Amino acid sequence: MNRTPFVEFWSHSQARVREALDVRLSSPQNSPQKLHQAMRYACLNGGKRLRATLVYAAGGLFNTPGSVLDVPASALEMIHAYSLIHDDLPAMDDDDLRRGNPSCHKAFDEATAILAGDALQSLAIEVLANDPALNVDPSVRLQMISHLSHSSGTEGMAGGQGLDLDAEQRALDLDALTTIHKKKTGALIQSAVALGALASNKAEPFQLQALDHYAETIGLAFQVVDDILDETSTTESLGKPAGSDRAMNKITYPSLIGLDSARRQADNLRDEALTSLDPLRTSHSGGVALFESLAHFIVDRTH
Ligand code: IPE
Ligand code: IPE
Ligand code: MG
Ligand code: MG
Ligand code: MG
Repeated sequence: MNRTPFVEFWSHSQARVREALDVRLSSPQNSPQKLHQAMRYACLNGGKRLRATLVYAAGGLFNTPGSVLDVPASALEMIHAYSLIHDDLPAMDDDDLRRGNPSCHKAFDEATAILAGDALQSLAIEVLANDPALNVDPSVRLQMISHLSHSSGTEGMAGGQGLDLDAEQRALDLDALTTIHKKKTGALIQSAVALGALASNKAEPFQLQALDHYAETIGLAFQVVDDILDETSTTESLGKPAGSDRAMNKITYPSLIGLDSARRQADNLRDEALTSLDPLRTSHSGGVALFESLAHFIVDRTH
């Protein structure tokens, strides 16, 4: 395979955050062993690591050391892993496969999966609050904690998941579906970019704003493409059950506007994301290329 700088960066970020998670998660030998094993299972078992990669990319734009970025990168992946564990539970999407392996509640049991999600959420906030590798002012730590907890809560991921459950019972229009997608998926992607930039303590407000618009746009595109892949891809290539949305009567972009329009929307969102990088082009051309590749990857991906 021809390893472009983007592919290099991505695989480096994947390896880096895996190690950062490994050292921050409790040993599987520590009591309660089953809970710690489940937390490690959900965090260390693959995944694209998009959110961690965005943290490293945003921090890298301002020359922030990787050792500092390891902390928000692992915090984001912990919250993301928790959201996936709970999303797969029988009371939610009832999916038995995740990242090519049995979902956490299948590999362990439902009660352990619920607790593993709970404890991962707490651990994410704890590392942001205490981890000495995050060598920043307390005020910056606080901003990061505030951003991540807000984007995980009722205004963000958990709220979006709540709306997603409500939507199984009623009709939705495209605006309402867009709100769900921005909250359940977009908010954490926005937080990944924001925390990476905040950790640098060097980003100007106009730069933070440009990055936030970029992240909001690719965050929505990411879930639109997730909806498309649920209809068009296979369980084998996704590593999670294809057709799950239809089986659960979910309203998705393809079910609401059709596959072709959903694809066009994803393309439009990619173009909007690329335009939103304009304010950064003169000062950060190298880093911007990475964000461009990320936007293309999100829309063109096959899993
Ligand atoms: C899946 O996220 C859940 C959504 C928000 C669509 P990812 O597709 O990023 O999952 P992993 O981390 O690569 O497994
Ligand atoms: C879930 O969206 C978003 C989360 C907050 C986890 P989906 O339910 O579509 O995610 P997948 O397809 O199961 O990964
Ligand atoms: Mg879901
Ligand atoms: Mg799901
Ligand atoms: Mg999905």
